[in-house]
Amino acid sequence: MADASQDTAQLTYDGKTYNLPVVEGSEGERAIDIRTLRAESGLITLDPGFGNSGSCRSAITYIDGEKGILRYRGYPIEELASHSTFLEVAWLLLYGELPSEAELATFTDEITRHTMLHEDYRRLFDFMPKNAHPMPVAAAAVAALSTFYREADNEDRIHRAVVRLLAKMPTIAAYAYKHSIGQPPTYPKNDLGYCSNFLHMMYATPCEPYAVDPVVAKALDLLLILHADHEQNCSTSTVRLVGSSLSSLFATIASGISALWGPLHGGANQKVIEMLERIADEEGSADVFLKKAKDKDDTTRLMGFGHRVYKSYDPRAAILKETCKGVIERVGGSSQLLEIAMRLEEIALSDSYFVERKLYPNVDFYSGVIYKAIGIPVNMFTVMFTMGRLPGWIAQWLEMRKDSDFRIGRPRQVYTGSAKRAYVPLGKR
Ligand code: SDX
Repeated sequence: MADASQDTAQLTYDGKTYNLPVVEGSEGERAIDIRTLRAESGLITLDPGFGNSGSCRSAITYIDGEKGILRYRGYPIEELASHSTFLEVAWLLLYGELPSEAELATFTDEITRHTMLHEDYRRLFDFMPKNAHPMPVAAAAVAALSTFYREADNEDRIHRAVVRLLAKMPTIAAYAYKHSIGQPPTYPKNDLGYCSNFLHMMYATPCEPYAVDPVVAKALDLLLILHADHEQNCSTSTVRLVGSSLSSLFATIASGISALWGPLHGGANQKVIEMLERIADEEGSADVFLKKAKDKDDTTRLMGFGHRVYKSYDPRAAILKETCKGVIERVGGSSQLLEIAMRLEEIALSDSYFVERKLYPNVDFYSGVIYKAIGIPVNMFTVMFTMGRLPGWIAQWLEMRKDSDFRIGRPRQVYTGSAKRAYVPLGKR
């Protein structure tokens, strides 16, 4: 029972009553602070998947899953999507305020000047199998940055590590792609913006330059903004846990990349496109597919639908759905996958299975349609998610290290194994 007037919750167990403080966030959400629970009562809590457990206090991103609200440092995602740029949003997430013109210019210049990779480091990609998925390549490459750059153990080195990560991630992504198709890497150009430089590195070859379409670069910038942070999701919680051991920032980010790869998390954007293409190729109707997605005995899921926090429309999906049409028209791509996606959404949102479980499109449902329309290979979709989420992971890592509550993460468990028993030597078992 939480009594906000006294800011305490009372737990009564085994004839004893424990008073636990209730903390309240700046948007009015409340939490029972249980950090003294075990010492006082011997009890721990159990919450598989942490659906009811807060791991930290954070001032970076606010989500209201019931109302479909997402804000970075208080700014609504809709406004940032309409007016901001990815590097400006990255600064906002990292440092808490929108940058001045001078701050943004300096930040942009710093990042531009760190986009190249050390030639010895670049050769890392030469030893990767060409058919390797680019996510483990990206995770390995980011972890390997620890072998080239000194530990980020003071403010100056931390800043340089942050700049290097943000600067080199697009180059790492593009090099992984170029290696996978047997082409030589295209080096970054300092006269191009962040997204234009990435597209240049992805598609220019020694034989011919690549003319970046500003509409495509802008669509990519929007996609990166929408993916930039999302409070304590699976990969961010991984970054906080690994970072809490004071491991290298590069190794910590590599752990976030590995967590994001999973199809239930960032890997869903690739699975959505594969799902849409399967429906298109098999001439199967959206209705047939949804029937499988609802069948408890069928592992098929409507990928890109459902969310642990959003029990209403993911605001990022709404923005992406609107963006799809304009980008496809501009690049002259097929709208078939978008039409299938919209048909799936239309049917699902009027189907009791999805409505009762409050399953709506999430960020991954429409993002792949845009990535595909601008020519990003399907197996690179989650690498694009990685590029977008990078400033969020770093911001959460920075906040954790400065938190007065900082301590190494170490959850408890409820043991369900064998009671004490004596060892039985071989031959007597
Ligand atoms: C991201 O956390 C974040 O913020 C993540 C993210 C970010 O920005 O970091 O937003 C990015 O990861 C988005 C999610 C991408 N994943 C997918 O689109 C994969 C498909 N979705 C699901 O697997 C699922 O909805 C999750 C993983 C997203 C959420 O899973 P939960 O919260 O553990 O919910 P659940 O699996 O317990 O599902 C509740 C019910 C179950 O049915 P019942 O047991 O009640 O009968 O809903 C069903 C599930 O079977 N269900 C689905 C479904 N998602 C949930 N049924 C069919 N299709 C789906 N997509």
